[in-house]
Amino acid sequence: MSLLVAPSILSADFSRLGEEVRRAENAQADWIHVDVMDGHFVPNLTIGAPVVKSLRGCTHLPLDVHLMITDPDRYLSDFANAGADYITVHQEACTHLQRTLAHIRSLGKKAGVALNPATSEETLRYVLQDLDLVLVMSVNPGFGGQKFIAEILPKIERLRRMLDEAGNQAAKISVDGGITAATAKLVAQSGASVVVAGNSVYGAPDINKAVSELKAQAAETVRK
Ligand code: DX5
Ligand code: ZN
Repeated sequence: MSLLVAPSILSADFSRLGEEVRRAENAQADWIHVDVMDGHFVPNLTIGAPVVKSLRGCTHLPLDVHLMITDPDRYLSDFANAGADYITVHQEACTHLQRTLAHIRSLGKKAGVALNPATSEETLRYVLQDLDLVLVMSVNPGFGGQKFIAEILPKIERLRRMLDEAGNQAAKISVDGGITAATAKLVAQSGASVVVAGNSVYGAPDINKAVSELKAQAAETVRK
């Protein structure tokens, strides 16, 4: 089974986002990853729910919304109404993580948690049943085009084991930041089933080749 590939539109041409999303869809991408930054939780500003709503009209692919924002609870219903499929909050931004995850599911959406590189998988020990997705950050969030931090690889393995032991085999592990064909292979070997890729997809001369290379690198190794 191949890896799912979620191109990050952070690296796309913002002057023609709809077209960029369709380009990824035609290249057989699986999800579209949308990076929402508030200039507070991370040192950068991007887009909000109105853009997600516009993108919803441009693609049938699941919209994988990564909220790099403080106090995400305030905006969950906005992103749900805009048409997000996965809503991922940062563990570091949630005081009442279980409540936030339950809230996302109550809106009919898949609930995700992102972990910064320095955050332990143990912070998810008591919410393993409340998760549909764990987004393991392999860079410190805020910018595209950063270098992959290999120290997170054992975290993926431990998380996969924790989720399986808790009976949540359906939960996916996605990895975000510095993904190339080479690093995609490493994360798949560790147990990830989704990769987020900005620069290596939208910065590539041939987007079709870029997406299929990411999928193929891991075809033999991915666990689920
Ligand atoms: C980083 C974002 C990523 C970013 C990945 O804060 O969460 O999704 O767009 O970009 P690349 O693949 O270029 O590292
Ligand atoms: Zn992201």
